[in-house]
Amino acid sequence: MSLTKFARLFGVAARGPLRFELRALSTATAKLAEEWKPKVPPPEELLVPLTVPTKLLFGPGPSNPSMRIYNASAMSLLGHLQADFHHIMDETKAGLKYVFQTNNDYTLAITGAGHAAMEASIMNLVERGERILVCVNGMWGSRAREIAERQGCDVRVLEKSPGEYYTRDEIEQGLKEHKPSVLFIVHSESSSGICQPMDDLGALCHKHNCLIIVDTVASLGGTPFLTDDWDLDCVYSGSQKCLGSPPGIAPITFSPRAMAKINSRRTKVPSFYLDMIELGNYWGCDEDPRRYHHTAAINLVYALRESLALLAEEGLENSWKRHHDTIEHLWAGLEKMGLEMFVKDKAHRLPTVTSVKIPEGFPDWKAVPEYLMKKYKLEIVGGMGPTVGKVWRVGFMGHNSYTENVDTFLRLFKEAIEDVQRRS
Ligand SMILES: Cc1ncc(COP(=O)(O)O)c(C=O)c1O
Repeated sequence: MSLTKFARLFGVAARGPLRFELRALSTATAKLAEEWKPKVPPPEELLVPLTVPTKLLFGPGPSNPSMRIYNASAMSLLGHLQADFHHIMDETKAGLKYVFQTNNDYTLAITGAGHAAMEASIMNLVERGERILVCVNGMWGSRAREIAERQGCDVRVLEKSPGEYYTRDEIEQGLKEHKPSVLFIVHSESSSGICQPMDDLGALCHKHNCLIIVDTVASLGGTPFLTDDWDLDCVYSGSQKCLGSPPGIAPITFSPRAMAKINSRRTKVPSFYLDMIELGNYWGCDEDPRRYHHTAAINLVYALRESLALLAEEGLENSWKRHHDTIEHLWAGLEKMGLEMFVKDKAHRLPTVTSVKIPEGFPDWKAVPEYLMKKYKLEIVGGMGPTVGKVWRVGFMGHNSYTENVDTFLRLFKEAIEDVQRRS
């Protein structure tokens, strides 16, 4: 911009000493305009409206939320330290205690995926160098081992083949041999479809001076789970499976025994974000006034609150029964098609995620999920970790867990299998 034009813009005459000051100002403004010119242009792909296709999520999660949950997540944002929001957090906490079946004060939802709760459970209960025994019979046990190793724990492993569960004796043997401070076990090993029997494991661990952490990401709300009756110390889950909320917020609960251990740690929890004492204060689990810890995923808390409200209205026992009835219907239909389940014994199969064996010599297992996605926008997936290439994984959880959905799925799954066989 010329000096005269610049002076006119500011309504002053470009004469005398002012002329020098104006020149300097004009140069600085031009420089600023140059600096403020972004070098990277706005992305073309953001200059069109967002499109999100509607899909049927019949895999191992996430599952489709109901409209009521979507609507809840779209409600007005509140500040994370406002009393209105604290009230909603308290309602959510009450719902979490119900679904976990616990009276634990430290019951809350971590802002993060199931992995955040997995990290938090180990990080709070096991100090660097302390011993943890991890039961590895699939992908999620392996992941816990990896997390514990990264956290510097002294990790011992109790390994079993995918699709097998642990007997009480096997666990007792492991506890005697390794003498860990904490045992980690997966209730719902969604990579294979096995459901770990839990009753008595809490008492067994305590007998051996050990705490117990349980992963229920793929089962909580979909099958009987009794945190207090089973004397469990830390249980965590995910929002996006049987609870039918969007992902990104992870329920977790710690027993008084677990909190006593956390309160008597020699060292601080290495992550401030995942420190249960700090998180517990923000969630109103202690007597102190709530302090700022982080900005919660406020709209995800609304969604979780609403999914727990749906559960309270339905009754937990009815939700458990609905998931069991739906999956029995699925198993019967699959068997009618001549297919086998990866976990042979019905009594130990997860009632939420099923692993269906890919028949011997099947031409191209990936073509089946691809067909369903392309033609019907329906998601199922293959195996994970040790079950890749061995199974298709199908899940009916939360709002998706109805026999009508199973009927639709069975019809389209049969069509997909026949199409792939015909084309090969
Ligand atoms: C049993 C189990 N544990 C942990 C996770 C991890 O959860 P997220 O993907 O929310 O981190 C999953 C996810 O599928 C799971 O099925």
